[in-house]
Amino acid sequence: MTTPVAWLRERLPISGDDLRSLTNEPVPNHLKHWWFCLGGTPLYLFGVQIVTGILLAFYYESSPASAYASVRYISEEAAFGWFIRSVHKWAATLMVAAVVLHQMRVFFTGSYRKPREINWLIGMCLLLCTLVLGFTGYSLVYEQLSYWGATVGANIADSVPFVGGFAKTMLLAGDTYNERTLPRFYVLHAAVLPATTIGLIAIHIAIIRIQGVTELRFENEPKNKPAFFNLFPDHVLTELTIALVLMIVLSVLACVLPATMGPRADPLTTPEVIKPEWFFYVAFRWLKLFSGTTAVLSMGFVVFVMFVWPFIDARIRKSKPTSELSVWIGVLGALAILVLTVWEAAVEH
Ligand code: HEM
Repeated sequence: MTTPVAWLRERLPISGDDLRSLTNEPVPNHLKHWWFCLGGTPLYLFGVQIVTGILLAFYYESSPASAYASVRYISEEAAFGWFIRSVHKWAATLMVAAVVLHQMRVFFTGSYRKPREINWLIGMCLLLCTLVLGFTGYSLVYEQLSYWGATVGANIADSVPFVGGFAKTMLLAGDTYNERTLPRFYVLHAAVLPATTIGLIAIHIAIIRIQGVTELRFENEPKNKPAFFNLFPDHVLTELTIALVLMIVLSVLACVLPATMGPRADPLTTPEVIKPEWFFYVAFRWLKLFSGTTAVLSMGFVVFVMFVWPFIDARIRKSKPTSELSVWIGVLGALAILVLTVWEAAVEH
């Protein structure tokens, strides 16, 4: 009689050796430290977002007439709804922070340099997807800040020369916020952006597998120690430990600071203070410092420079191989983001 294992082997002729060689990718020693393997953190948090997002979608209704009530039902009546919603919200916040920290690690270790420029570009697309996921997510609750945040966002898009009007109409499904706007945000948030993010992550990781992770050597590292360790089970265990700690952190945050609800959207009353989520503070402060088109164009320019940074850096290093200019530009950029964020957080208007 054919055993189940033999039956399966006949159909899927994969041996233990094949699996071992697929997963035994050597990983440089520095990836034993959390700071250097930060890429796994947004990956795990994105997984949490997908699972909790699917659970929320069972109850959420995307029409303006019932969206707010459906979120209230999730928060107050559905079993563990408040917990799932709170974990979803906190995982979003931590994911933005983790993506930014991962990008900083890649920047300050120069790991975006040849041949990894393409993965930096993919990473920049992932950063934008993460931010737009956050923006569309906050719009779904249909509270005052959801409505007015979406309206402000569409008006910012409108101030881009030539394509702005079109972008605004596409985003709002009309010239102003209407009954088709919220379903459109929902399709973007729950289908288009997650699918795009999954595709980008797959390419990002495939490129990492092809190129390997940049090898960094430290002065205090003993010379006789092996410079690599195995992806499976060693690195996977590090990632699982991080995932466990993150699950505890998320659960504590969800219990101590659960997701709340502001007043229901009222298109006739503009709130006195409109503040986006903290990760948009930097852009919001910038928009207040420079008016309309100037602010939007200069922000677009900064994002463009971030995209093509590996090529700018290559130019700098070609003319001055020992120059530390790139590091100083990075330090200034990080400080500017920090100052603008804290400034916006500290003032009411
Ligand atoms: C959802 C967001 C992201 C995920 C899940 C992700 C995942 C990963 C993972 C797992 C690694 C392997 C090494 C490590 O753990 O650090 C990695 C490396 C890398 N990531 Fe990301 N990443 C994301 C966003 C970004 C962003 C925003 C950038 C930069 C703009 C970026 C650029 C890179 C580069 C260049 C490498 C190669 C680093 C090296 O060779 O040392 N990634 N990423």
